[in-house]
Order: sequence, then C-alpha cells, then structure tokens
Amino acid sequence: MTPTLADCRAWDAEDSLAFTRARFRLPEGMIYLDGNSLGALPMATAGRLADLVEREWGQGLIGSWNDAAWMAMPARVGARIAGLIGAEADEVIAADSTSVNLYKLAAAALSLRPERRVVVSEPGNFPTDLYVLQGLCAALGLELCVKAPEALENALTDEVALLVLTHVHYKSGRVHDMAGLTATAQASGALALWDLSHSAGALPVDLNGCNADFAVGCGYKYLNGGPGAPGYMMAARRHHAAMRQPLTGWIGHAAPFAFGDDYAPADGVTRLLTGTPAVIGLAALEEGLKSFEGVSMAAVREKSIRLGELFIALAREAMGEAFDLACPADAQARGSQVSLRHPHGYALVQALIEAGVVGDFRAPDIARFGFTPLYLSFADVFEAGRRLKAVMDEERWTAPRFSERRAVT
Ligand SMILES: Cc1ncc(COP(=O)(O)O)c(C=O)c1O
Repeated sequence: MTPTLADCRAWDAEDSLAFTRARFRLPEGMIYLDGNSLGALPMATAGRLADLVEREWGQGLIGSWNDAAWMAMPARVGARIAGLIGAEADEVIAADSTSVNLYKLAAAALSLRPERRVVVSEPGNFPTDLYVLQGLCAALGLELCVKAPEALENALTDEVALLVLTHVHYKSGRVHDMAGLTATAQASGALALWDLSHSAGALPVDLNGCNADFAVGCGYKYLNGGPGAPGYMMAARRHHAAMRQPLTGWIGHAAPFAFGDDYAPADGVTRLLTGTPAVIGLAALEEGLKSFEGVSMAAVREKSIRLGELFIALAREAMGEAFDLACPADAQARGSQVSLRHPHGYALVQALIEAGVVGDFRAPDIARFGFTPLYLSFADVFEAGRRLKAVMDEERWTAPRFSERRAVT
C-alpha cells in the first residue's frame, strides 16, 4: 500500500536526521529535489562570507593570508571531505574544478604506469570525464578505451594503465562496485580513479577500504559548497612520493615563497595544487561541509533510501502507465536519486518546477530527482508526489509553452 501523509509525519517525528533541516535556508513552499546538482544554501554561509569579505579581506587585507589561515584552506577543507569519503585527512586536498582535478590526477596516475598505453572508462560517463580523458590521451599519445559496464572486467588487460569511473552515475543513479572494480583493475596492474561527484555526502564512501588509488569530486552538489565551489582530489598515501602531475604551478612547489626558477614538488597531496587558493569559494565549501557535523553517513544512506523508495511508490501511483523507472529498482544499487523516463521529460520537469517541485532534466528523456536527507523530510516527498499527481492528472506537461521551450533546449 502506498504510504499516507500520516505515515510520513510519523517517520519525520522519529527521524534522527531531522535536526539538520535547520542548517539550511530553502524557499518557502518549494520542494527541492535537485541537491544532486546544486546543494541548498547552508544558514551559516552568508554570514561566513560576509565576515570573510568585510573583516578578513576588507580590514585584514594581505595579512589575512597568514592571520586568517587562507593558505591552509585547501588542506583544511580537504581534511573535512576526507572524513566523508573514507580517506585520511592528509590524502585529500580541495582546489580547482572537478574537470581540472581529473586531468591532474589522471596524469599523476599515468606517471606511475609509464610503460602502459591504455586508459579505460565507460560510455555515457559524465561528459567532462570523457572529454578530459580524450584530451589527456591525445596529449600523451595514449588510447582511451570506452567499455560498457558488463565489458569492463575483460577490458582490464595488462596494457591498461588506469581505470576511470564515476561511482554513482549522474543520469541513471547506478552505483558501481568500487571495491570489486578497483581490485580487478589492480590485479591487472592498473590503477583506479573514482569520480565521487554524486556519492560524497550522499552515501558512505570508503576509498581506503576499497583500496582506491585516486578520486575526484564536486563541492557544489551534496557537499553544499555553492555554485562553482572548488572540487577536491584524493590520492592514496602510497602514491604520494612518486606521483607527478602536469600543472606544476607555484602553490604545488616545495618552497613557493623561495621564488626559485625550477619546479620541485611539495610533499604529499600539496603537490596536486597549482595556483592561488580560491579563498571565497573554499570558505563557502567549508560551511557546506559543516552541515555534516554530528551526522553519520550510515544514517544519511538509510534515510536517502527510504526517501527514494517513498518517491518511487508515489510516482508509480501518480503516473500510472506512464511510470518508467530509469534508475535501478534495487535501492542498494542506486545512489541518492530517482530517474524517470518520460517522452516529454523536459516539459514534465518544467511543469513540476512551476508546481514548486524542483528536479531536473537530462537529455534525451530523463526526469531526475535528487534526495538530500539533510534537508528533506518524508512529508516533503509526500507533497512532491501529490504535486506530481496533479501535474499528471491535469496533463500540465502538454501545455504549449512547455513544448515551445523544449524546442529551444
Ligand atoms: C560525475 C561528474 N563529474 C564532474 C562534474 C562537473 O565537473 P566540473 O565541476 O568541473 O564542471 C559533474 C557535474 O555535474 C558530474 O556529474
């Protein structure tokens, strides 16, 4: 039987994560199911940024590089992220964008396997991952071999230097077996690099438990760092001394303030840095990460699965024959999102946004809904299901203005 509003209220009353809702500012009446794309604004962020701008920058000026410990921010923020992804504090550093970080880390991994000529990934990976690997392989004269998930194991031959996969798929929400695929890659002598953009902060990630070699990820999705927040890089400690990355800027130098002519890499993950830290973005990301204080990722996962299951049940009822699940039905194999296929997916998502339920559309026909346990209640999801039913019953997605908009995307 489909859960009722009374069921949802009862679950909210005993929700061990209910207290984190007050850590976020969300527009009244909106049900935000897009935290997998851009996380919500933490309450503390505006004040922190105002203080940083007015006091640290405005008054402290250049002295704040030391007095406000701006220079330490990439490592400090990295250490917070490490706690969410199963890494040691000194194995993670925050900087740059995920795309740039992927270039640097993939190149660093390849520097450890100079005799091998192949990089393996999967088709339909998030485009930037494939584009970055295409550019890197072209620059290094390597081959990029793109194989469907079921063919990955056979593709991991002794020619392969590196396997690059996104842990939770951005469109389907499918979760890869990180431990298994890492072990298979390593058994053939390759290294494994994971993109955690849709996993970190959404489900427990155990990079060291899986013996992963490298990882990257976004700061602006489940980590709530704000639009364009810096990303992060994880390198397992065993690779620190030997890895070399190609964007050898001064902030990754062993002695940046010696201003010497010749590059010498800093110790540890600091060598993955390139230029001056983006202090304002890092401060916003640090506030986003504080939203996880006192929160267990096991509790986040448990609630995320329950929210997803609830939405699936409600959507099945609301959509009837039009219901078409585009993500794994098995909750354990699904990240913190539900994807639905609909021939008018774009128009459907727009109609829902007009009804105050914000999800997003991914071409060609996927309506995507993210579930962020830190600021979503069961009653919110119930209300989203109610509004979805109204949109379906009234066929609002067929309204001409939505079809017109679809034509221009
Ligand atoms: C898996 C994955 N990797 C990377 C990115 C984006 O990278 P960047 O922050 O460099 O634009 C996204 C954005 O949605 C993503 O889903």
